[in-house]
Amino acid sequence: MKTSSTPHGMARWTGKTALVTGASNGIGAAIATRLLAEGMRVVGCSRSQETVADVLAAADPDGEASLAVACDVRDEAAVKAAFAAARERFGGVDVLVNNAGLGHAGPLAAGEVEQWREMLEVNVLGLCICTREALADMRARGGRGQIIHIGSMAGQRVPAGAGLYAATKHAVRALTESLRMELREAGDPIRIGEVCPGFVETGFAAHYLKSEEKARQTYSQFKVLESRDVAEAVVYMLACPDHVQVHDILLRPTEQPT
Ligand SMILES: NC(=O)c1ccc[n+]([C@@H]2O[C@H](COP(=O)([O-])OP(=O)(O)OC[C@H]3O[C@@H](n4cnc5c(N)ncnc54)[C@H](OP(=O)(O)O)[C@@H]3O)[C@@H](O)[C@H]2O)c1
Repeated sequence: MKTSSTPHGMARWTGKTALVTGASNGIGAAIATRLLAEGMRVVGCSRSQETVADVLAAADPDGEASLAVACDVRDEAAVKAAFAAARERFGGVDVLVNNAGLGHAGPLAAGEVEQWREMLEVNVLGLCICTREALADMRARGGRGQIIHIGSMAGQRVPAGAGLYAATKHAVRALTESLRMELREAGDPIRIGEVCPGFVETGFAAHYLKSEEKARQTYSQFKVLESRDVAEAVVYMLACPDHVQVHDILLRPTEQPT
């Protein structure tokens, strides 16, 4: 019987590499910044390499611990290239944070296929492609790894008006459990977990509601979460000892009623 494990804390990840998708803004930017502060190397990805580079430079001015990569997660070749860049620079990825995501609110009776396609391709398929590439990388390196999906409270219950977005986040929740079972079946030490936030003040709502004014209203009705609150949940998950796998963290603003 195995009795030893790692202690609680981030020390085990010092000098290890995390790839964070959607690191140009909001939650992904906060996670990338927080992991750099913990002594990790960070590969940040989004469609805007320049914006990711600015985010990373603020936390890692000499650029020794970070790399900004242009990557649209809908593009399989671009995802493969991002992982290749991470291998070339840092030797491979130990942690993947599948954060890139977006929503378009709207009724199913009048939805636009291009918006549905984008949500499915980014929130679900892109997440699967990144996961597959990360697993191959982690296994080739023979080490322990961790994958964290940024889901949503919209994946735990269906908010009114969430249309296809809620379905994509329910898919993320299902994919978390599918991968957990797959890893156990394979006897693999890689861990999988999900963080599901409620309202977080980011660029999300303006895009989701197609209105800066509605986004302001959403974020001012009560004290909503900040991106760094979600980053703290990610750090908690990572910091758990080897024998502890946090499966899901549901994180609402205290005053959020739904
Ligand atoms: N904010 C909330 O209230 C909330 C609540 C629950 C869950 N979430 C989830 O949290 C995650 C992060 O969202 P956020 O709130 O931080 O929103 P955000 O501020 O709009 O940031 C979204 C990030 O995703 C990236 N992204 C979008 N499409 C992409 C693509 N095709 N390829 C690569 N990156 C792409 C964006 O980068 P580029 O535009 O530069 O590519 C950006 O970095 C999402 O999965 C979202 O569903 C948010």
